[in-house]
Formats: sequence, C-alpha cells, structure tokens
Amino acid sequence: MSSPEGAPQDVIPADLLKGQKALVTGANSGIGRATAVALGRAGADVVVNYVAGREEAEKVVEEIASFGVRAAAYEADVSDEEQVVAMTDRMVKEFGTVDILVANAGLQRDASFTDMTLAQWQKVLDVNLTGQFLCAREATKEFLRRGVVPEVSRAAGKIICMSSVHQVIPWAGHVNYAASKGGVQMMMETLAQELAPKKIRVNAIAPGAIKTPINRDAWDTPEAQQDLLRLIPYDRVGVPEDIARAAVALASDLLDYVVGATLYVDGGMTLFPGFATGG
Ligand code: BGC
Repeated sequence: MSSPEGAPQDVIPADLLKGQKALVTGANSGIGRATAVALGRAGADVVVNYVAGREEAEKVVEEIASFGVRAAAYEADVSDEEQVVAMTDRMVKEFGTVDILVANAGLQRDASFTDMTLAQWQKVLDVNLTGQFLCAREATKEFLRRGVVPEVSRAAGKIICMSSVHQVIPWAGHVNYAASKGGVQMMMETLAQELAPKKIRVNAIAPGAIKTPINRDAWDTPEAQQDLLRLIPYDRVGVPEDIARAAVALASDLLDYVVGATLYVDGGMTLFPGFATGG
C-alpha cells in the first residue's frame, strides 16, 4: 500500500535484499505490514507473522507476492515459546533459512499506575519484550547454524528490534509499555555486543508517532492531530512507510557497519521540542 505522505516507496532498490529470507512479526497491520511489504519490494522472501487477523495477513502476502518474491502467512503468538520455535522451524523448512528478523509485534494496554492490573502489565511485557527475546533467540540459532553466505549478505543475520521513542521518553499512563521498550533497548544492545563477533547485527528502530491502529486516538481528529504535532518538530505525523524504509536500510549491507544502534525515526520527537521556545 502506498501512502500520500512522506517519501515514495519506489526509492527502494528492487534487488537490495535479493535472495534473503525475512521474518516480520505482527505483520498483518501497521508498521509490521509496511515493513513486510517494503522488504518484499527490496527483493526478500517474506514470512508475515500474525496472531489474529488471518485475512489481513493473506492480503499482505498477496501484495508482497506481486513483487515476484515468495511470501507466506504464519500464525504464532510471539509470547509463546513453543509457537515461536515451531514458526522458526517451519520457516527454515519451507524457506530454507532466516536472514532477517524484524521483531515488531507489540501492543499497548494503557492505564494510570494505580489502576493498572497485573494482567495489563504482564501482557505488555510478555508480547513486547519476551516476544522479542524468543524470536531473536530462535532466529539467532539459525543464523549460527548457517553462518555467513557471502553472495547473500556480509552478515550471518540481522535482527531489527522495533522499539519506540518511549525507550527514552517516560510516558505517564503507559508504564507497562515504556518499561517494555526500555527493556528492548538494553536487550538489543546486549545482544548486539554478544552476537557481533558471530557476524550477527542487532539494531533497533525507535518510531515516534506513526499513524497506525495502536494510536488512532492521537491522530484521527484534527484537534488530536494538532496536539500531537506540538511534539513533532518536523510537523507531520509519521506513516508506516517511514519506518519500513528504515528497516530495509538497516537490514541491508548498506548499513553493514551499524551494530547495536537505535535509529530514531520520529520527526524529531526526541529533541525535547518544548525547549525550542523555553528553558
Ligand atoms: C506508541 C504510540 C505513540 C508513539 C509516540 C509509540 O511507541 O505506540 O501510541 O503515539 O509512541 O508517543
């Protein structure tokens, strides 16, 4: 799907990721969807993971297949160890290997601190943090088994953790989410340090406000959008394709020397915009 906002997707070179196999979790909607499509546009074969919303996932598969690459939809709950192991095994059987993991699946269960239930806390940690741990672990086992194949990529594997500006911006009313993304940052950096000698590159993207179903309330009325824009120096709300292009670049050998980095794709949200006129 193309978007009228932001840069066009046809700037993505069609053979940049040729011959690579990518797994994108939570790829039936939002940022995951756009990323899966962009990876396909760049020539990768793509597994579209989803936990609910099979029809949407199949539509993403169709769109990716239109680029002449292979795609399939796999159902798995990323917070369930057995399901993640089964998904990765299936991908290796059906696609041959995994070269790129985009650990994207994530959710919010918002509540003020004293109203937050243990179930809301746990669910967000389970999906956003433990889910990334499990997917990264299983993908890494495959990267290590296969090793570097120089015709495919200079790295044995690439992991992109989908984080958030809230890995560094505290977020009242969302303590579960902010804690999960803070955890993603330190998990990513630790894995990057541990796995770099094995030629595995682990990095993160920290999106700012991107128009997806997760934050619809923040942008779908003119008043909400106006409020939101006060936090974004670049003066536009992001679209999923903004993140997708960053993921393609990070996954490719163009950024082969980028290890353990967080790429903030946020229109400047992390630049303390309140200080533009104050302080
Ligand atoms: C959250 C969105 C929010 C954005 C900026 C994201 O990580 O999921 O709900 O709009 O951060 O605050």
